[in-house]
Amino acid sequence: MAFILGIESSCDETAAAVVRDGEQVLSNVVYSQIATHAEYGGVVPELASREHLRAIIPVVREALSEAGQALETIDAIAVTQGPGLAGALLVGITCAKALAFALEKPLIAVNHIEGHIRAVLLEARQAGDEIRFPAVALVVSGGHTHLYLVRAPEQSATWRYTPVGHTLDDAAGEAFDKVAKLLGLSYPGGPIIEQLAKHGNHNAVKFGPVQIKLRDKGIRESDGRNPRRRSANGDTEPQFHFSFSGMKTAVLRYVELSDMKVGIDQRRRSIAQLPQASGQDFLKIIDQKTLDLIASFQRAVIDDLVRKTLAAATEYQAESLIVTGGVAANTMLREDFSQRSEREGLQVHFPSRRLSTDNAAMIAAAAYPKLLAREFAHPEFSAEAGLALGK
Ligand code: KG4
Ligand code: ZN
Repeated sequence: MAFILGIESSCDETAAAVVRDGEQVLSNVVYSQIATHAEYGGVVPELASREHLRAIIPVVREALSEAGQALETIDAIAVTQGPGLAGALLVGITCAKALAFALEKPLIAVNHIEGHIRAVLLEARQAGDEIRFPAVALVVSGGHTHLYLVRAPEQSATWRYTPVGHTLDDAAGEAFDKVAKLLGLSYPGGPIIEQLAKHGNHNAVKFGPVQIKLRDKGIRESDGRNPRRRSANGDTEPQFHFSFSGMKTAVLRYVELSDMKVGIDQRRRSIAQLPQASGQDFLKIIDQKTLDLIASFQRAVIDDLVRKTLAAATEYQAESLIVTGGVAANTMLREDFSQRSEREGLQVHFPSRRLSTDNAAMIAAAAYPKLLAREFAHPEFSAEAGLALGK
């Protein structure tokens, strides 16, 4: 049996968790900084680092005590190396290094995106679900919108990742957050948009198909139907990229053309009076036209994510899908993926909502195969804000 203490501090959550054998969560403590960043409508890096510094030791202590473990009984310490905010990552890394050095325990550096993907294992096996490979994984959060082909050679514990698509501009969660901000809603935008969208007509506003111009190749990908580009050797290779900044601009244009600015400013003023505004608070002061716009925007983002992920699954003859990251907490996204996958005979795996958003259990889960393979971090390793996964 191996007990891994995971530490995560890549963005605005300070988290620590203890996981047994890469699959069983014994504790999963997440201290969210949302309240600190809410008034700015997004994460402020300097404030994030300061909050991580305050929270990291109490959060690690709590994770150990909830798991009934002590530092001495832990077998390894795992920490997020990147991608993320450099200053934020350094807080977790410094803490993990100090613990590993003082306790003479192995230290394992984990890619945050791999953590999101391996989070599915924390529940799938317990529910008797075996993940079939190859799988296509969609990692969709405030910082990432990435598609990977995932293979487990000979069903080994170590998975191999091939990137097959990513966003060329905003991440999907970032688009939710920016649209919420421009409509005078609170941060983070995803959960509030999801709540309000239930009261709107998602067919009311038409968003054109996402068009990605591949200028360097002289080829245009339109609507995800012909997602191919020419590789260096002249062969065509599949491509499943995303772009969400156009949808955000379309919302802005609709707001301007429909004279919605005055209503948005009023909403901002009345919400500023409340310490933490809920969906119910917004419902009291929001008009139907805005609700329709919100519902149509959510529909358009989800359609695009589902369509491209399924197209990638077909292209790579995937046996299953893994859908993970903060935006995977969205109920409509889950329902659409479940329905479409069932029709196409694909298994789909989501971590539960708590394990979809940032947490440290996923970091400990991703560290387990590295512990088995004795892939330990060099004591001199540092944060990598732009760390990539796979090749
Ligand atoms: O994975 P996460 O906690 O942090 C990052 O690694 O980014 O994801 C946070 C993102 C935010 O952009 C938030 O608006 C979005 O996930 N999000 C959602 C929902 N819950 C969180 N987006 C859509 N629907 C939701 N229910
Ligand atoms: Zn994340």
